[in-house]
Amino acid sequence: MTGKIRILVLNGPNLNLLGEREPHIYGRITLKELNDQCEEWGRENSIQVDCFQSNSEGALIDRIQEERFRVGGIILNAGAYTHYSYALRDCIASIRVPVIEVHLSNPQAREEFRKTSLIGPVARGTISGFGTHGYILALQALKNIIEHVERSVKSRKEMDLVDDAMAGRLKNRRDPGKE
Ligand code: DQA
Repeated sequence: MTGKIRILVLNGPNLNLLGEREPHIYGRITLKELNDQCEEWGRENSIQVDCFQSNSEGALIDRIQEERFRVGGIILNAGAYTHYSYALRDCIASIRVPVIEVHLSNPQAREEFRKTSLIGPVARGTISGFGTHGYILALQALKNIIEHVERSVKSRKEMDLVDDAMAGRLKNRRDPGKE
């Protein structure tokens, strides 16, 4: 990955109905408004934020696979797939990009079937129960992770340069005159 950092925000089934769907649980903000908030955060932080929603498990997996070398991180609210999709779980386990699992509600405080997440164990972390603010918290966490990785790659490159320079100097000391 080169250039501007990119983060992908993925929403799974029924999240297209945000604002209308069980507002006492998921709130009144629509998916468009949520995406706008994430993109706005991206502009303020000089990060390219792209949002995608699908009701289809295959479309989510296709998108993750397509983007796996293009993005620095992924935020995933897999909706109900969280609780039973081995395919999505395997997809996330297959890639090196950090994935943060997000839920608007707190599934641990809800029905039994929501207490199991197949995504959690393969995600870098999970944020749930904070409504749409959870996406902003996840963006912030990913930004920190990506910047940390970039800093360590940069210092590794600098260390390699120092190593090369030292090796050159030692060589010159052994074979003076030979450049
Ligand atoms: C959800 C929680 C899931 O259990 C549910 O199936 C959803 C939304 C959340 O954001 O709270 O669709 O992921």
